[in-house]
Amino acid sequence: MPAYRFPQPPASDITPQQVYLSRRSFIGGAAAAGMGLTLGAGEAFASPLTGTQSAYTVNEPLTPLKAVTTYNNFYEFGVNKGDPAENSGKFKPTPWTVKVDGMVGKPKEFALEDLLKMQLEDRTYRMRCVEGWSMVIPWIGLPLSAILDQVEPLGSAKYVSFETVVRPEEMPGQSGFFQPLAWPYVEGLRLDEARHPLTILALGLYGETLPNQNGAPVRLVVPWKYGFKGIKSIVKISLVEKQPETTWKNSNAREYGFYSNVNPAVDHPRWSQATEQRIGEGGLFGTKRVPTLPFNGYADQVASLYSGMDLRANY
Ligand code: MTE
Repeated sequence: MPAYRFPQPPASDITPQQVYLSRRSFIGGAAAAGMGLTLGAGEAFASPLTGTQSAYTVNEPLTPLKAVTTYNNFYEFGVNKGDPAENSGKFKPTPWTVKVDGMVGKPKEFALEDLLKMQLEDRTYRMRCVEGWSMVIPWIGLPLSAILDQVEPLGSAKYVSFETVVRPEEMPGQSGFFQPLAWPYVEGLRLDEARHPLTILALGLYGETLPNQNGAPVRLVVPWKYGFKGIKSIVKISLVEKQPETTWKNSNAREYGFYSNVNPAVDHPRWSQATEQRIGEGGLFGTKRVPTLPFNGYADQVASLYSGMDLRANY
């Protein structure tokens, strides 16, 4: 198991995986029951991590941990869903720093330990992938606004850009003959989206630090947008004036836009967005589909960010 150890909470505060799951199972119905939740030996799940309760959390059955950690998109480790779990064993998420710079009064480098000492919260979110599947994941993280407040964005800053680490020696998808994307993976948000209280930097899930395949040690989670906005293994955050480049838009601008708000009324050229398959419901990889909600069900909180905007043109 990689050395991925942080300041430990007192033993009395630690919630073992099974306790966490059973505590959650009465909230989450069948989520924890008999769905292959046992982790195999050697899986990279590391240190316990706790967050305080938050109002920004949904009460829906959780996607089984096994599915959350074995059905992933993380092209730095390969393009198939099982590749990130299989190929990320050599990745070293510590030591780690996140550099925050650009149009700010106080640029700063945050060591991972600094982030972990901040006020972490439990944030169970609905997650919707543009490919048509969805999950409900109990993240642990901190509002991105807490970081932005510390660096003091200047009035000229309008957007926030994010960058993933480049480490071909630890990320086989960055070193192979076939390079599916240009590296580093980059993403961006408008500053008001970045400051919205639902937007978090996740440091853990299911009561543990993030597994490598889910974006260790720190990744973005924006629950009203398609999953590809949730850039993983972040090393740099910059405040900028112009709309930043984003990996999937660069790769195919006809299919992927900057905003990427979940919208059942606007189909992707290759996938209907009207319904989604909840991974883990009706068996680990069952085929039950449910209607997709505008802004992934977070319209009450975020629709006002886009008032007056044509969401068909700004997909
Ligand atoms: N971040 C990086 N650096 N590389 C990636 O390939 N894939 C994105 C996003 N973040 C990706 C990434 C996509 S397409 C999705 S759907 C989510 O991560 C998946 O997150 P999960 O595997 O934790 O569910």
